[in-house]
Amino acid sequence: MEEIHIAGSGIWFPEDVITNDEIVASFNSYVDAYNNSNKEKITSGELIPLEHSSSEFIEKASGIKTRHVIDKKNILDIDRMMPSLKNEDESRISIQADAGIKAAKIAMKEANVSPEDIDGVILGTSHAARYYPAIAIEIQNALGIDGYAYDMLVGCSSTTFAINNAYSDIASGIADTVLVVNPEISTPAVNFAKRDIHFIFGDGCVATIVKKDSKSEKTFKIIDRKLITKFSNNIRSDWSYLSRTATDHKTEEELLFYQNGNSVFKEVCPLVAEFISTQLDKNNIKPDEISKFWLHQANARMINLIVSKVIGSNEFDTNLAPLPIQKFGNLASAGSMFAFNLNNDLEKGQKGIICSFGAGYSVCSLLVERV
Ligand SMILES: CC(C)(COP(=O)(O)OP(=O)(O)OC[C@H]1O[C@@H](n2cnc3c(N)ncnc32)[C@H](O)[C@@H]1OP(=O)(O)O)[C@@H](O)C(=O)NCCC(=O)NCCS
Repeated sequence: MEEIHIAGSGIWFPEDVITNDEIVASFNSYVDAYNNSNKEKITSGELIPLEHSSSEFIEKASGIKTRHVIDKKNILDIDRMMPSLKNEDESRISIQADAGIKAAKIAMKEANVSPEDIDGVILGTSHAARYYPAIAIEIQNALGIDGYAYDMLVGCSSTTFAINNAYSDIASGIADTVLVVNPEISTPAVNFAKRDIHFIFGDGCVATIVKKDSKSEKTFKIIDRKLITKFSNNIRSDWSYLSRTATDHKTEEELLFYQNGNSVFKEVCPLVAEFISTQLDKNNIKPDEISKFWLHQANARMINLIVSKVIGSNEFDTNLAPLPIQKFGNLASAGSMFAFNLNNDLEKGQKGIICSFGAGYSVCSLLVERV
């Protein structure tokens, strides 16, 4: 069988940047205003006062220093605390398609492919902007690509699962070249008034060209793919088209993204470390033969823990396990491929692991080699 390659990738991210100090100042102003306006109920014990957030906690607990977002002003405005967007409609390109097209053009250039070369577009994301028509078909149309396109949802593993689907389509013979697009416009799904999650997410998009026998400058052969899902309620969003029909009351905030971050941390780290180690064993590859671990960017401590377990040492730096989370925050499923895109200067023959883990739980690991 011919080899199947990652032939190129491209990223897009918004210009607005929010530092930890800025997000904490906004959050703390909201907390003070809330506590002040509920003084009596708090004094009588009817309400619990909200607690301040802190930059020190955020950086220590997560590694995040800044995040790029689509609308800094409105996220930081304590009377709004979310981006301001217009309803989407047929008169203009959708926000996810727009981000996807920008990243796709860069990926296509790097992979040296034109729209005529592409047989399919697979869009994977944590949040469907709409149910139909698929955003992937909108991108396909805008880029002038023939063939097929569809959207898929696998939480924070949407990017790697989409690359896996692209590989399968190529291996089965229905496509030679597939464009994978992963827009993660997460800030509209974040409750910025919630202390344990207000600092986590940023917005961004990655695109990847998966191709049979690529001859591009930056080609990585996909040697092995491994996937697993295990049901968990620890990362969840109940926001849905069903919400309008609900006869019991839940606030919009209650329906948005929520998590039990500490349980995720404790359950997912050993699962992923074992998962990668087993994959390396199966492929007769020793951990020290891996030159880069491009892991899901949910938490720098998780990445450190997982890589330490896999290589059996905590003596490594961001050269081995890149941390774009420091600059971009958690980019949901786009994180591992952001890490790849920004740090893939491997020599021919060097190997790396692209691994996502997140809601579901879902885990996917791609073993790749620079060719
Ligand atoms: C979210 C996360 C950064 C929180 O870090 P953590 O070390 O688990 O923190 P905890 O929730 O245990 O809280 C520790 C303490 O910090 C406090 N705290 C929580 N948020 C805080 C904030 N913003 N500022 C200051 N203190 C805060 C808590 O109240 C708690 O205090 P206590 O010890 O007095 O009870 C971390 O759990 C994480 O990243 N988990 C993985 C999540 C993940 O992968 N999600 C997938 C989404 S794609």
